[in-house]
Amino acid sequence: MSVQVLHVTGARPNFPKAAPVVRALREHGVVQRLVHTGQHYDERLSDVFFRQLGLPEPDVNLGVGSGSHAAQTAAVMTALEPLLLLERPDLVMVYGDINSTLAAALVAAKLEIPTAHVEAGLRSFNRSMPEEINRLVVDRLADLLFATSPDAVAHLGREGIPAERIHLVGNPMIDTLLVNLDRFDVARIRTELRLPERYLVATLHRPANVDEVGDVAELTKAIHSVAGQVPVVMPVHPRGRARLAEAGMFDHPQVRTVEPMGYVEFLSLVRGAALVITDSGGVQEETTMLGVPCLTLRPDTERPVTITHGTNRLVDRATLAAAVHTTLGQPPALHRRTPPLWDGRAGERIADVVVGLL
Ligand code: UD1
Ligand code: UDP
Repeated sequence: MSVQVLHVTGARPNFPKAAPVVRALREHGVVQRLVHTGQHYDERLSDVFFRQLGLPEPDVNLGVGSGSHAAQTAAVMTALEPLLLLERPDLVMVYGDINSTLAAALVAAKLEIPTAHVEAGLRSFNRSMPEEINRLVVDRLADLLFATSPDAVAHLGREGIPAERIHLVGNPMIDTLLVNLDRFDVARIRTELRLPERYLVATLHRPANVDEVGDVAELTKAIHSVAGQVPVVMPVHPRGRARLAEAGMFDHPQVRTVEPMGYVEFLSLVRGAALVITDSGGVQEETTMLGVPCLTLRPDTERPVTITHGTNRLVDRATLAAAVHTTLGQPPALHRRTPPLWDGRAGERIADVVVGLL
């Protein structure tokens, strides 16, 4: 039977977004192919998610690996084009804002294969972020745009995308969180990592924080002054590992570094944390759902609902330690609002729209 939906995934944050969509389309009996571009290839950034999230083994791994933005995007395009020509799917689905997302949308558009973008319309309005460029181009090209929040729908409307292409469906990454909630075992991860009752988690991988020596020095100073208050556990993304080590980040006795963690282990760690410091997109959303205070080390966010409805606050390196101190001194918010439709059913809503169109 001919392929109806071909999913293109490539890096860690794609996998929890794709898993509920693949599952919901399977329940409708849709013929699917799952492509992994190979943008992320380490076991801990890739395979572990397939195992833990019940994603099927990719049908194809394009094996593109790392490279400059142009080289990586071009490598995905070059490898994907013949595959799409061969498979001729009815729909290509792309996720989030990584280089693999951009490359797949470009190839599909030029082959006139309809394309759906999951997590459309997010905008940081900061074009120094490579992801912002990817979001703008992918949303321009996509035929179907699945938005996770009302602000995203509004951005797409302002950019002239016809309303009938846009669907507010909720957040598939939150579907994955909710379906796995019972597996996030705080006591177990605390024992495994021999953690104290009160600890913080930090994840940092944005180029603006970890690529330049000067930024890394400031970041190290900021995290060390936090670690003076409460121990910090840091699963280290490979992007910044060497530069952070050179700057002495890991030399503080209260900074505990670990390899990138599996999804279940990481969210167990986050669930038990007094506070999370991050520059991750997904982690801003997950802390909002788990009710764990989150300080985002960025000047802006494409996910403002995590601030208006959730636990997120934007901070800079100079004020981080004071913000941690203040936040830890505050009582936990009793009545939190959940962003609209973050109810665990986004995958089903996406599948309903897709099946209606096929
Ligand atoms: C990418 C995404 C970013 C996303 C992040 C999630 C783009 C432009 N960036 O950033 O939006 O937030 O993934 O984690 O698509 N590396 C490894 N092992 C791997 C993969 C990468 O060691 O399996 C190292 C390589 O040195 C590589 C560097 O990490 O050069 C950066 O990898 P890359 O995929 O280009 O970007 P990320 O920083 O991971
Ligand atoms: N994550 C993980 N292990 C880690 C760090 C993050 O499983 O050590 C998960 C996190 O819970 C979220 C996803 O990876 O589901 C987010 O990926 P990342 O922060 O790399 O990318 P971003 O969301 O910033 O694009």
